[in-house]
Parts: sequence; structure tokens; C-alpha cells
Amino acid sequence: MIELLGQSALQADLPEIPGLDNLFAPAGPIKMAQILAAEAFGAEETWFLANGSTSGIEAAILATCGPGDMILMPRNVHQSVLSGLVLSGATPIYLNPHYCPDWDLTYGITAPSVAAALTAYPAIKVVVVVSPTYEGICSDIAVIAPLVHDHGALLLVDEAHGPHLHFHPDLPQDALAGGADIVVQSTHKVLSALTQAAMLHVQGPRVNRDRSVRPWP
Ligand SMILES: Cc1ncc(COP(=O)(O)O)c(C=O)c1O
Repeated sequence: MIELLGQSALQADLPEIPGLDNLFAPAGPIKMAQILAAEAFGAEETWFLANGSTSGIEAAILATCGPGDMILMPRNVHQSVLSGLVLSGATPIYLNPHYCPDWDLTYGITAPSVAAALTAYPAIKVVVVVSPTYEGICSDIAVIAPLVHDHGALLLVDEAHGPHLHFHPDLPQDALAGGADIVVQSTHKVLSALTQAAMLHVQGPRVNRDRSVRPWP
């Protein structure tokens, strides 16, 4: 490990000891680092995750949905969204993403398909968009977000594969800049972090950031 990462990387890998802060209730260096991360990624508030985007997606669904609440999502969601459904008891409404047979690629979710689903199911509370998809296809979050908000719902973007988008103007717009309420990113996938390091970002007034829930039932 020293050969691979160098001495300083291992010196920085500390357990939770007094003075280093507590990941579950940060008030010191971790809190400061989260504030800097929020600033860097364009969020209002950021949480560091040690169990991948998986834990952020589950937390986001638990924070926004209860048993029976309707949540709109594409069919090609990651399994963490499905475990969020199991934990929260929310009811999924599925959208089929556009499929391109020429490239054998599943594309993103379009604004008209979201609008149609919101009209068909007015009780939808949360909309999940995966952007970029596993294959790197981005959805137009800046067009989808106002539709969702006008409906009184919340937009959660699984941006596990897009934590780099914010940092270059030639890349598609990142989900926070597009107006999403909650964005979850796998820092360990595209940026540099040890496996399982991820971030959950929140902005705007729609998410109750202090909601405390027990998994359902
Ligand atoms: C689209 C998508 N969302 C979420 C995840 C979960 O990410 P993590 O491995 O950081 O828990 C993955 C993992 O591959 C993914 O492809």
C-alpha cells in the first residue's frame, strides 16, 4: 500500500478518534470538508457517504417517501433505488427509457415522458432520474426539474456516474445546476476516492433535511 499510495495517504486514513470528528454528526473537520464540498459541487448542503451512492439513494428515498407514496422512476434504475423502495414502502411508477436498437443503448428520460406520467398519476411525490446512465447518457435535467416542481414533486437525480460534470463546460450540465433537489454521486467511480466514497447533495426548500424515519414496516 505504501508503494502504491505513499506514506501520507496511509497517515491520513484515520479511524474515528476524538478530535477527528464524527461522520454521523460532524461538527469539526468533516463538517468543514462537507461545507467546502458543497461549495465546490454547487450544492447548499453535502453529506459524505461511506457506503457508496447506494446509501445516499436509500437515504434520499427514505427522506422523501413513506409507505404508499408514489415515486416515478425509469425501468433501468440501479438496484439501490429498488432497495429504497423496499425500505420506504413507496409505490413505484415505472417509465420506459427510450431504447436505441442501432446502438443497443438505453437512453435517458425525456421531459414529455415525465410530463405524461405526472398527468396520469397526479399523486407522484418524487421523480427519480438516472443521469448519466450506466452507459453515459444524460437527461435534460434543466427541462425536467421545472416540470417536477410545478407539479409539487421533488427531483432526485442518481448522478453516480457524473460527479465530474460540474467541472468542465464542455460536459453536459450537472444535475444541481439543472435544478434537482437531491443529487447523489459516486466520488469513487469517476473522481478519485477510495471505493465506496460518495456524496449526497441537497439544495432548495423542498427537502425536509431533518426528517427522521424508521425503515418500513
Ligand atoms: C446508475 C448507478 N447508480 C447507483 C450506483 C451505486 O453506486 P455505489 O457503488 O457508489 O453504491 C451504481 C453502481 O454501479 C450505478 O451504476
